[in-house]
Amino acid sequence: MLVAMPKQKPGTSRQDYSTPEDLICAILKRLTITSFRFDFAADKKNTKAKRFWGVADDSLSKPAKTWARMCGEGWGWLNPPFARIGRWAKRCLHAMWKGADIAFLVPAAVGSNWFRDFIWDQPGVKVIFLNGRPSFDGKAPYIKDVMIILFQGSFKDAPFAVEVWSWRAGGNPWTQMLCKDCGKVFDFDQFCPSDLENNSGRCKECNRSHVHRWEKLQ
Ligand SMILES: C[S@@+](CC[C@H](N)C(=O)[O-])C[C@H]1O[C@@H](n2cnc3c(N)ncnc32)[C@H](O)[C@@H]1O
Repeated sequence: MLVAMPKQKPGTSRQDYSTPEDLICAILKRLTITSFRFDFAADKKNTKAKRFWGVADDSLSKPAKTWARMCGEGWGWLNPPFARIGRWAKRCLHAMWKGADIAFLVPAAVGSNWFRDFIWDQPGVKVIFLNGRPSFDGKAPYIKDVMIILFQGSFKDAPFAVEVWSWRAGGNPWTQMLCKDCGKVFDFDQFCPSDLENNSGRCKECNRSHVHRWEKLQ
C-alpha cells in the first residue's frame, strides 16, 4: 500500500529560532575564533555577533561584495529563516567568491535544488553534517538532520569537501587559551570561546588583552 507523504508547508513554521549556545560554542572552537564578526540574519535578542542585519535591513538586498566587507578578516554567521533557503545559499556562495568566510546552518536538505546548484562540488565549500541533532527549543532535538556549510572565501580554491562531525564529542583544535596580559588560562571544558571576551573584545579577567594577545594552548 502506498502511503502519501505529508504536505510541506514552506514558511508556515517558526522562522526565528535562536541557534543553541552549545552548538555556537562548538563551532567557535572548531573555527578557532572567539566570536563571529557579523550575523547576517538576526534581531537584537538572538544575534550571535555584535553587528548584524535584521528584517528591516533585508540582508538579501545587499550585494555580495557588501556581505564580504561585513566579514572583514573574520567569520560571518548565518542561520537563515528556513523558508526559501536557496536565496541565502546563493548569496553566501557569491559572497565567498568576493572573499567572505561564512558559516551557514541549515537543514541537511541534500535533495534540494539549492544544494545541487549552490553547494555541491563548489570549490571553497565544506559541508559538515552534524552527528547529533541540536535542540532549538531547549526541549527536544530538531526534527531534521542539520549541517553547517563553510563558505571559505580565504580558501576559495580548496577542493569541495564533506565530513561528518560529532560536534558534542569535542576533538577541537583548542583546549585552552591563555591571556598574555594577566596569565589567566581559560579551559574550554568550562568556557565557551565567547566567554573570554567582554563587550569590547578584551579579556574578561583583566580587561586589557585584545584578541591578538591570546595564545592558543593545545
Ligand atoms: C533562525 S533565526 C536566527 C537568529 C540568530 N542569528 C541565531 O543564529 O540564533 C533567523 C533570523 O533572521 C531574521 N530575518 C528574517 N528575514 C531576514 C532578512 N531578510 N534579512 C535579515 N534578517 C532576517 C529573523 O528576524 C530571525 O531573527
